[in-house]
Amino acid sequence: MNGRFIAFEGGEGAGKSTQARLLAEALRARDHEVVLTREPGGTAGAEAIRALLLSTEGDGWGPRAEALLFAAARADHVDKLIRPALARGAFVICDRFLDSSRAYQGGGGGLSDADVLTLHAIGSEGLLPDVAVLLTLAPDVAARRLALRDTAGADRIGGREADYHARVAAAFERFAAEAPDRFVRIEAQGSPAEVHARVLAALDARA
Ligand code: TMP
Repeated sequence: MNGRFIAFEGGEGAGKSTQARLLAEALRARDHEVVLTREPGGTAGAEAIRALLLSTEGDGWGPRAEALLFAAARADHVDKLIRPALARGAFVICDRFLDSSRAYQGGGGGLSDADVLTLHAIGSEGLLPDVAVLLTLAPDVAARRLALRDTAGADRIGGREADYHARVAAAFERFAAEAPDRFVRIEAQGSPAEVHARVLAALDARA
């Protein structure tokens, strides 16, 4: 498998967390060291920022403050967990990374892509995943999955209106089309095992 830093990307309910876990298990079964992590989060500091970002208390963050907080959480995560793991030769599998900021704070929230990339250059010296696995799912299927999962209600960002999430989905599709060497686009319809088989085949084909 070519590339040790793998991010899972996509809208809400596409199955990213499940697929990240299944890929981690498959790579461990091949005797690789794997760090499985998520954004926002992955370190104590970044998890604290996650709580600030997703809490439904108070009146929330404006788009610029939100983008800065995601970039700050990512800076801590990259510095303390991701770069050290890559340096010792481990695989890093991350449930969301930079392309989520480009899609949600850029495409959905209205910041320019250049601004989001500038924040990333400052915070994380522009570190990019070797491959971003984009899981795509029809909005009605994703909504059904979320309704089954969300017993405690949506968080501040997941709970935004359908228009916002449509802009996010369109932005992800645009990024994948613009950078086919960095993105693998996977249809997320079907059972977790079926989708996992697609992910593994696509990543092995890149080797
Ligand atoms: P999760 O539900 O995948 O854990 O992600 C939490 C929420 O944060 C989700 O609605 C997507 C959003 N998000 C952004 O808006 N920008 C980002 O950079 C990241 C990593 C997540």
